[in-house]
Amino acid sequence: MFDFEKILNLPSPLAPLTDTAFDEKALKVYVKRDDLIHAQISGNKWRKLKYNLLQAKSKGYSKLITFGGAHSNHLYAMAAAGKYLGFETRGIIRGDELNENSSITLQYTHQCGMQLLFVTREAYRDKENLLSIYRKDDEYIVPEGGSNALAMAGVAEMYQEITSQLGYAPDYIFCPIGSGGTMAGLINATDQTRIMGVCVLKNAEYLETEILNLIENKAHQNKKNFRFFHDFHQGGYAKNTPELKSFIEWFQQKHGFDIEHVYSGKMFYAFYQLLKSEIRPDSTVVLIHTGGLRRFCQK
Ligand SMILES: Cc1ncc(COP(=O)(O)O)c(C=O)c1O
Repeated sequence: MFDFEKILNLPSPLAPLTDTAFDEKALKVYVKRDDLIHAQISGNKWRKLKYNLLQAKSKGYSKLITFGGAHSNHLYAMAAAGKYLGFETRGIIRGDELNENSSITLQYTHQCGMQLLFVTREAYRDKENLLSIYRKDDEYIVPEGGSNALAMAGVAEMYQEITSQLGYAPDYIFCPIGSGGTMAGLINATDQTRIMGVCVLKNAEYLETEILNLIENKAHQNKKNFRFFHDFHQGGYAKNTPELKSFIEWFQQKHGFDIEHVYSGKMFYAFYQLLKSEIRPDSTVVLIHTGGLRRFCQK
């Protein structure tokens, strides 16, 4: 096994968030600062990668292959995990018009030593076919976004950290939904906390079924202790609006830490919008900062 604990800040801090808006309902609000786990292998990416990497190692693989777009947080974290934890990595990249200088993410993955394979957007849709063409026998496959059954165990550890840091189970946890792996892992981990998922994509109701399919613990699935919110995507994936921009500026100034507009910004914004109508008085709420920032980007 590799000694990842030396380079990771675990358990990640659970920081109180204060605002007079919370006092009116006597809410205790905390932020789970998973963005501080590591400068590059941060947020829910570490949670989702951990057991994939351990499985690769225990099966004797030292090479990893995965997929991603030019701005993929997953690709970025995978490249960093390769560099820091001693895996050779290759990434199949969506867009054959791109190169290793096309984005900060691709530049960083390249600097980490990840080999980048650029394919057309059409070819990218058929992952099985791409693997049959590109994958070498000695490469372990990590799925796009890292959301698979092994990711559930890593997300469950985040939930356990929260309950032991608080000393009890919170009433609500808010998280952003991209592929849904993080929300599924949280629902799987608890039947005491209501999981509030804020979808960052437009027209993504189909994700509800995908999330329910990922939940292994059918008892938790049946308890329906979770909610999906589809009205906070701001026009679609990675889209920003003047309202979201000014919320993020206000939030960062007030609370003193950075959030980004693709995932965490939409989730924090949704929480502020929903706290009056959807949160019971006297509750404890935990908001997951899932990372996604590039401010620590180093060469
Ligand atoms: C920073 C960040 N936050 C949240 C998410 C959403 O997580 P999930 O895909 O597990 O729903 C992702 C990735 O998809 C992400 O990169």
